[in-house]
Amino acid sequence: MRKIALTATAVALFAGLPLAAQATPADDLKSFREHFIKMFPGVPLEEYKNGVYAINADARSSWEAIEEFPPYEDELERGGELFNTPFANGKTYASCFPNGGKGIRQNYPYFDSASGKVKTLEQEINECRTTNGEKPLGWNKGDIAAISAYMASTSNGKKLNVKVPNDPRALEAYNRGKQFFYAKRGQLNLSCANCHYDNAGRMVRADTLSPALGHLSHFPVYRLKWNGLGTAHRRYGGCNKQVRAKPFPAQSDEYRALEYFHTYMSNGISVNAPSSRK
Ligand code: HEC
Repeated sequence: MRKIALTATAVALFAGLPLAAQATPADDLKSFREHFIKMFPGVPLEEYKNGVYAINADARSSWEAIEEFPPYEDELERGGELFNTPFANGKTYASCFPNGGKGIRQNYPYFDSASGKVKTLEQEINECRTTNGEKPLGWNKGDIAAISAYMASTSNGKKLNVKVPNDPRALEAYNRGKQFFYAKRGQLNLSCANCHYDNAGRMVRADTLSPALGHLSHFPVYRLKWNGLGTAHRRYGGCNKQVRAKPFPAQSDEYRALEYFHTYMSNGISVNAPSSRK
């Protein structure tokens, strides 16, 4: 397998081809998918929810062994307990969400026309708390990741279905996320796309790069390295640091826009949260 050195000279290897600026989200999705279908012939669309394990058979067998006794089981159970424990005012999380918070993960993030902003599930978990007189939780791990993972798990098997409504503000947020994905950054001058689009399947240090298709099907994810669950924005921060760029804060406008674009690109792939990764 070809290896990629993480040095400035490696940049020359990357042919980051941003999608056409005027393309609609539906056009983008089509070419995004086709890119990977061509790159990994024979890998069915649905398999992409398994990240790097969809394309690397060796890594897959050790992952399958880990998943037999899922390391996230306790946290997931705790997430369910927290979700069902009433606030001091007697209300529960269920009162803040459509369908009592069950089976809704596939619709997140979504564009909220009232505020004109992209809303993420974690953001709404904390809004639910503050509306009900509770303190917000820290963003990246711990209780918020456990609650979010529990909620996501009630959507398992439902296909991601993020919408970009016919509202210029929604399209603007989507395009900002798209730009973030293709923009080179950090001392290594690499974009998300350079690693997870152009070079999926190749190695960086000891890791095979996962395809960006299906990336957000299984978040919050359990990482062995974290020894716990973490949100998508925690992972974004880590990947920004890998290229020696300053990460943005979790739930910043930048990361919410990125999550919007990035999840839209996985529309049609089933939620399977949480899952474990290295
Ligand atoms: C230098 C290459 C590199 C760059 C640039 C990079 N990543 Fe990663 N990323 C990795 C590696 C290595 C991993 C761990 C192996 C894997 O799953 O790809 C990873 C993992 C991930 C995962 C977890 C995949 C899973 O299945 O759980 C996500 C999501 C992700 N990256 C998103 C991004 C985003 C968004 C950006 C741009 C902000 C980005 N990455 C930039 C190297 C990179």
